[in-house]
Order: sequence, then structure tokens, then C-alpha cells
Amino acid sequence: MIRHLISIDDLDRGGIQRILDRARSFAEVSGREIKKVPALKGRTVVNLFYESSTRTSSSFELAAKRLSADVVNIRSVGSSVDKGESLKDTVQTLSAYEPAAIVIRSPYAGAAQQIVEWTDAAVVNAGDGKHEHPTQALLDVYTLMQALGTLEGLNIWIVGDVMHSRVARSDILAFQRMGATVTVCGPPTLIPREIEALGCRSEVTLARLHEADVVYVLRMQQERMHDAYVPTLREYAQRYQVNLGRLRDGQLLMHPGPVNRGIELSGDAIDSDAALIGAQVKSGVAVRMAVLYELLVGAPALQAVA
Ligand code: NCD
Repeated sequence: MIRHLISIDDLDRGGIQRILDRARSFAEVSGREIKKVPALKGRTVVNLFYESSTRTSSSFELAAKRLSADVVNIRSVGSSVDKGESLKDTVQTLSAYEPAAIVIRSPYAGAAQQIVEWTDAAVVNAGDGKHEHPTQALLDVYTLMQALGTLEGLNIWIVGDVMHSRVARSDILAFQRMGATVTVCGPPTLIPREIEALGCRSEVTLARLHEADVVYVLRMQQERMHDAYVPTLREYAQRYQVNLGRLRDGQLLMHPGPVNRGIELSGDAIDSDAALIGAQVKSGVAVRMAVLYELLVGAPALQAVA
């Protein structure tokens, strides 16, 4: 059992599998009319979001509520963070409520690891700068398992702005741990030189995209680009946009959202049968319930779900 989830590296293959199995039983809860189990009754979960988020924040909120926790949501807009309160002061203030878990999203790589020292709560990294986003990777693995049964032997291409993507880092680790081979692809300026140290291959053109079983497209993270990494977005789209003309029959398409429609992905691809994008969002609640359960309750798991 792990105490915090900061990186996919906190989990071995068995740990990932345990979370996926539990997520499957929680997905059943989400299909009921009363979508609640009492697992975290009387415990408090704090969601601390210092960066914009739709999917991740709403699914963590629903996940905690469906486990019957008391939930406090704090966004940087409208909180004392705007008044210059430091992260340490904020975490220490919130710790006075004795939360069982703090879920944090921050523009700074390392922020989640940092707050472990300032609180007794279990810490869940919901995205820290360019570093990692482990629950996104878990829901991506879950979604692929639902579609294909296994990741063993799959060839997965991650296409786009790898440089600024915490999703890419967590996905590379998680997909490989579950038996897939990963190739990253994008303009050389957006493929960090050290990425192959994570065990993946890299490509700078889409010429061999047909070899992929799964094409995972990343958003151009313009808010993190302080230099010109591509000449223009139009030129980027011409060379790297994933569209139906570039996909072959049978390939699956994923994207963590939010999508820049018409830039990294064409509208026809987003709306095609190949896309698992809606399924990814749907998986988010059950997988985050399983992560909170893993950290706060642990084994034996399944009796509390029943
Ligand atoms: C991702 C994120 O915030 O890192 N989105 C998400 O969590 N669904 C990817 C992105 O913003 O492009």
C-alpha cells in the first residue's frame, strides 16, 4: 500500500492492476441510481487547484463525494492564494481541518512532493507543471483495458507537445509498465532530448504512424510556451495534426482534453468511432475513487464497495 501518489513510479505493475480492478467495481457504483458508498464517511478530502481544470477537478470532486467524504474545493481564484499566501501557509491552514487527503494541481513541478512535508494528509498529484499527472495515466490505462483487454504488446504513439506535457511523462511510464511499447512523435523542438531515458523511442515525422495500434494526441500547451517552438500553429497542424486522412482503420485515438479542435486533432477525428476521448473522461471518476480508496482505506478492498 502506498501513502501518496506523486508519480507513476510510486506504483509497480501489481499496484496499478489493483487500482484498475477496484476502479472497475466503482464504475458499477456510478451506474446505480444512488451513486454512493460509505467508504470515506466522516473523512475530509481537500481539492487544491492552482491551475485551470475542468475534467480533473470535477472528477476528483465527484469521486470523493461518491465515497461519502466531506469535500472542500479551493481554487487559486477567490482564495487567499490570490492575496499572496504561500503554498506552505495554505497547506498548514487547511491541515487544521485534519483532511485525510489533499489533491493538488500546481503549475510548479515538484509542488505535490513538496507539500508531503507540510501535512499529515495523503497527497495526490493532480498535475504538477511539466512533471507528472499520474491519475490521468491510470485512467488512460483503464480506458485502454476496457477497450482492448490488455496493453501487453501494444504499440502506442504519443503525438504532439511532449516537452510541456505531464500527461506524456506519466503515460510513458504507465503504458510501458503494463507491457506496451511507446513512441513519442512531434517537432524536434517539442521532444525533450532526455525523453528516451524513460524507455520510449522518438520520431519527428508521422511517416510511420500506421505502425501504431493507439494514437495518443497531446494538446499544444501554449500557456507553457515562452519561446517560439513551432513557426505557426497552422504549420504545426499541416505536419502533425492527427486527422482521418492520417489514421488507418482499426487504430484507436486518445486525447486527455481539452482539445484544440483543428490544431492537434481534426474535428472529424474527434467525432469518429476511433476516438476514446469520451470514455477517458468517463473513466476519470471511477479511477479517482479507486486512487482515494487505495490511499485512505487500502486492502481488503472489495467488501466496502458491495
Ligand atoms: C491535461 C493537464 O491538465 O495536464 N488535462 C487534463 O488533466 N485532462 C492535459 C492538458 O492540459 O493538455
